Amino acid sequence: MDKDKFEYRQWVAFINRETELNDLRNFIDKEPSEILFIHGPKSSGKTTLLYKFFEQMEKEQKLDVKFLNLRKTFTNVYEDFLKAFFSVETSGEKKETLTSNINIGIFKIDAAIEKKILEKRADPFKVMEAELMDLTQKRIKPVLIIDELQALDKIYLDNDKERQLITALFNFFVAMTKESHLAHIIIASSDGYFIDRVYTDSRLKKTSTFYKVDYLAKKDVMEWLLNLEKYSKIKDYTLTEADAEKIWETVGGSMWEIQDILSLLFEQPLEKVIYLYRERLRSLIVDYVVKPERKEIEKLLRLFLDRDELSKEDVSSDDEILLRDMVRQNILYFDPTKATYYPQGKSYHLGIRSYFKR
Ligand SMILES: Nc1ncnc2c1ncn2[C@@H]1O[C@H](COP(=O)(O)OP(=O)(O)O)[C@@H](O)[C@H]1O
Ligand SMILES: [Mg+2]
Repeated sequence: MDKDKFEYRQWVAFINRETELNDLRNFIDKEPSEILFIHGPKSSGKTTLLYKFFEQMEKEQKLDVKFLNLRKTFTNVYEDFLKAFFSVETSGEKKETLTSNINIGIFKIDAAIEKKILEKRADPFKVMEAELMDLTQKRIKPVLIIDELQALDKIYLDNDKERQLITALFNFFVAMTKESHLAHIIIASSDGYFIDRVYTDSRLKKTSTFYKVDYLAKKDVMEWLLNLEKYSKIKDYTLTEADAEKIWETVGGSMWEIQDILSLLFEQPLEKVIYLYRERLRSLIVDYVVKPERKEIEKLLRLFLDRDELSKEDVSSDDEILLRDMVRQNILYFDPTKATYYPQGKSYHLGIRSYFKR
């Protein structure tokens, strides 16, 4: 092999998302007037979509994208929040690019302001607002993206248990969008319950748009699997239409799992890979179910044998406690906009089915 050549036998694909990219563009092209809440099951591609979108947009428009990915940041107390939101800029520092600017200190401040914030002589929200105003005056559109915002859920302002940070942040977001039209605010979360709380808060509901990013549709999956060289730069093998169908039947449009299957196919035949995959999902359900509440959990999971989703209205409050845990453990997803529970993906649905088959 040529050592100088930087190559992989499989690359990370990015399939379609035309509709989503267009919808995001429409959102960004309007003066800010509402918060955008992006929801959807874990690994449905929310973060990737946002990265792609802003990579494209930053080339076309004067944007200042402040992208905070809280999945990658440790946030526990108020000081962690300050660290995530603010950083001191030393003079002569070169402007960071979007990807290098993801995690810490999305608002650049000078040392004097930092000191004031830490000594509680300056209100961090006022400091943020000032920067957003400054950018707008320079005719740069500020965009604030917070990925996995629920990570801030247990934090209190100045560590005062009476004042939830998240409430203050939401007030700030409403002020920045609906009231003063200063910045685009985009929130993403995989936590259906968190979004549900927002969705059922009448004031936030009125000032927000909810947008679902879901796994890929079948036609996209087929397009990908029948053109592996084009999308994943895989040259070692190709798949037939029947192979692609089998993969779709196993994991549906879950990109992460498709990618995983594709990498297993370098070593093993499809039949074997699919067999092992199904076994793995079955045992995942077994591991989850084996606990004192097994009977009650089985009763609920059995409902998914002949249906795709379960409406919140149809379950008792006892059942809801169990369902909540299944959502927390990513067995089920809760869609706040429809108030329904359903298996996290096709593979989980299969896992549930094969659990009852034996
Ligand atoms: N449009 C896409 N086409 C192919 N793979 C994708 C696409 N979007 C995301 N992925 C892959 O799916 C996985 C999960 O994506 P991610 O954006 O982290 O999901 P989320 O933020 O919703 O949890 C990643 O491995 C990513 O590379
Ligand atoms: Mg994400």
